[in-house]
Amino acid sequence: MTSYSLRSASPAKTRADAVVVGVVAGQEGPRLCDAAADVTAAYGRRLRPFLSTMGVTGKAGEAVKAPTRDEVNAPLLVFVGLGEDPSDPVAVRRAAGVAARGVANAASVALALPSDTPELVAAVVEGHRLGGYTFTAYKSTKPEAGEPNDVVVLTPLARRAEAAEALERAQVLADAVTLARDWVNTPPRDCTPPLLAELVSAAHKEVTKGRGAPKVQLEVFDHEQLADMGCGGILSVGNSSASPSRLVKLTWAPKDAVTHLALVGKGVTFDSGGLTIKPSSSMLNMKGDMAGAANVVAATLAIARLGLPVKVTAYAPMAENMVSGTATRPGDVITMRNGTTVEIANTDAEGRMLLGDALALAVEEGPDVVVDIATLTGHMQLALGDKVGAVMGTDDQVPAVLAAGVAAGEQHWHMPIPEEMAERISSSKVADLLQHDWVRWGGGLYASAFLREFTGGLPWAHLDIAGKEINTGSPYGHVPAGATGFGVTTLVEYARSLATSAG
Ligand code: BES
Ligand code: ZN
Ligand code: MN
Repeated sequence: MTSYSLRSASPAKTRADAVVVGVVAGQEGPRLCDAAADVTAAYGRRLRPFLSTMGVTGKAGEAVKAPTRDEVNAPLLVFVGLGEDPSDPVAVRRAAGVAARGVANAASVALALPSDTPELVAAVVEGHRLGGYTFTAYKSTKPEAGEPNDVVVLTPLARRAEAAEALERAQVLADAVTLARDWVNTPPRDCTPPLLAELVSAAHKEVTKGRGAPKVQLEVFDHEQLADMGCGGILSVGNSSASPSRLVKLTWAPKDAVTHLALVGKGVTFDSGGLTIKPSSSMLNMKGDMAGAANVVAATLAIARLGLPVKVTAYAPMAENMVSGTATRPGDVITMRNGTTVEIANTDAEGRMLLGDALALAVEEGPDVVVDIATLTGHMQLALGDKVGAVMGTDDQVPAVLAAGVAAGEQHWHMPIPEEMAERISSSKVADLLQHDWVRWGGGLYASAFLREFTGGLPWAHLDIAGKEINTGSPYGHVPAGATGFGVTTLVEYARSLATSAG
């Protein structure tokens, strides 16, 4: 485990294996950020040609290593690009992430990045931890070193309580994203619904143990209980699998709660498509189809650790969508938790079946607002790509989610639920709702209209993060290859914004 600490900024005098220096790109060429003022002074007139020789420009994503002579105490400088605005926490988070991968093998690292506000201190720590994330549980030979023992954040705020709090907050957020990434990265045979529920129990235990730990209630409902509860939607997906379904519920109910947020996350531990089986290549990353569930659990534990004055009830329905003699068939009619009947048309549109039940359960508790998050449709991946999430829902909540995304450094985009969807979802000849109508266009919007039927008319937002949960390309910024944890920080920031707007 890397330990993080704060120290007054004087990178030139800092003894560490490597000092990371933020570089700002500008019209007059690159310059070092303010936190590295004494490095700029130490090099004096030699700095410009030095940077130029090494090809340092300061553009985002750049990391250039340079050995030092006697200008600074550390033997190695790492110049990381900040882009043009060094006061933007998003840019700083990315640069810190790039830095973490740039010098993963140094035992001690000092970071001279923009950090003159608590928000920036948090961005440095969060970015460094998230960018340095690796998942080695299944590697027989562990890569040597891989992460530094000591990371010192050089900040003018080092002795201020706000900076220490920002560091702590960043650790909580990074822990949450790490948890979600670990679960999404875990192979699906080790992450069946019962095993995922156990992973959640273990994480819950870890967060709630010891004096002063937050009190979070955990309930795990098994297959029989789900049947008794009338959760036909969850069971219609899980009944094809040898591993029985689960529903995990977490409750954080602080005494000073100003509002009640219900979170719901899709937990399909593997999505083969069921009888409407997926083409082989589309099945490749379907271990990540439980990212929504991972996110709501991780976010709820973080919200509790941060002590946010928001009551949170989180629902994580878990099922494995497989092919067998007991699988749900196209043409079957399923009765959901709230009594609505649904005609199945495509067993690969399974997420809405889990979410419909879980949303209905969430609404029964009378929350002030409901937010669900799911790797729901390939349509939204096609529409928005692999870095921007879709947000749909009631007009009062969508802007709040978008704003939370900005604060969290994650991009989301508002998508509509067009009027004609209401007609499409109710076009079944035998049941109340038609699960899917085989019209290719607007499938993500159709899914949203379907989910809306289970929200009881409450303020609601739906985040479709399909394709964002796993980065199939190279690492960038604070995002590694593989599981990304996309959505976790947006959920936490959203809860924080509820606390301030309602409080
Ligand atoms: N889990 C998939 C969605 C998905 C696609 C997640 C790509 C991550 C990356 C979901 O269950 C699914 O299969 N959706 C169908 C919906 C369709 C049948 C209406 C799809 O995307 O084709
Ligand atoms: Zn799915
Ligand atoms: Mn599917």
